[in-house]
Amino acid sequence: MKSLLYSPIAFLILKGVDAHYLFGRLIANNVITPQFEYVREIAPVYSGVDTTRTYPFYDVLSPDFRCNRNATTTGSKTKTVTVAAGSEIGFHVGDLSVSGGPASLRIFHVGPGSIWLSKAPGALETYEGDGDWFKIASVTSKPGGNYYDWYLYDMTSWNVTIPSTTPPGQYLLRIEHIYPRPDKRERPDQPLVPDTQFFISCAQIEITGEGGGTPGPLVRIPGVYQLHQADVFFDSSGMFDVTKYVAPYPPVWAG
Ligand SMILES: *[C@@H]1O[C@H](CO)[C@@H](O)[C@H](O)[C@H]1NC(C)=O
Ligand SMILES: *[C@@H]1O[C@H](CO)[C@@H](O)[C@H](O)[C@H]1NC(C)=O
Repeated sequence: MKSLLYSPIAFLILKGVDAHYLFGRLIANNVITPQFEYVREIAPVYSGVDTTRTYPFYDVLSPDFRCNRNATTTGSKTKTVTVAAGSEIGFHVGDLSVSGGPASLRIFHVGPGSIWLSKAPGALETYEGDGDWFKIASVTSKPGGNYYDWYLYDMTSWNVTIPSTTPPGQYLLRIEHIYPRPDKRERPDQPLVPDTQFFISCAQIEITGEGGGTPGPLVRIPGVYQLHQADVFFDSSGMFDVTKYVAPYPPVWAG
C-alpha cells in the first residue's frame, strides 16, 4: 500500500480528490438520481482512470464545451426524465460509489454558475446540442465580497425553477460552473494560453406544461464565449471583490 501511495499515478488520483468534481446526478421531482442515469456520461481524461472524468474542461471553442468530454454522443445510454414547467430541477455533484474512486463530493472551486436549456429538434438521445441555447439561472456572489463568497462555493447541489412558460418538449439541461483563472504560460518563451476551468454536464429532460413563453436571448455553443474575454478568463484570487462581478452574456430568461 505504501508504495502505491507514493507512486505517480496515486499522486494524480489523490490530486483529483482535492481539485475536481463533476455534476453527475440530476435532481428532478425532488429525487437526487444516480450518477449518469439522466446525466450524459463524461469521458475520462485518461482512458481507464475513472476519476479523471471529474477533470475540468478548458476549450470554449470545442463542440464538447456543450456537454463535456464526448458527451454530445452518450445520449443513447442516458434516460430522459419528465418534469413540469414551474417545478424545481437541479444537479448534485458526483457519486463516489459510481465514479469508482475519490471524486470530490462538493463544489471545490470558486466562481459563477449557470443553467441552460436547448430544445431537441428531433430525438433527444441523438441531439448533439448544436441548436439554440438559453439560460434559465445564474448565480455569482453571496454577501461578503471575499474570495470564498461565491454562491456555489462548497455546496453539493444547486436547484433552480424551470420557467413556468417554457415551451413543452425534450431538452438538454446544461450546468456550467466556471473557475476563473488568469491566462498562463507553460514556459517563459511560450504564448499566454487560457487556463479557466469549466465544470459542465448535460441532463436529458422532457418538460410538460402550457408553454406560451418565447425563450431568449438564444446563443450557440461553442460561440457564446470568446477566448480571453474578461468576464470568463480572469484572476479570481487575491483581492478580487466577488460582489462586483457580473456574469457573462446571455442574461437569464425568466419565462
Ligand atoms: C436540492 O433539492 C434536493 C431534492 O429536493 C435537496 O435534497 C437538496 O438539499 C437541494 N439543494 C439545495 C442546495 O437546496
Ligand atoms: C471520445 O471520442 C473519440 C471519438 O469518437 C474516441 O476516439 C475516444 O476514444 C473517446 N474518448 C473516450 C475517453 O472515451
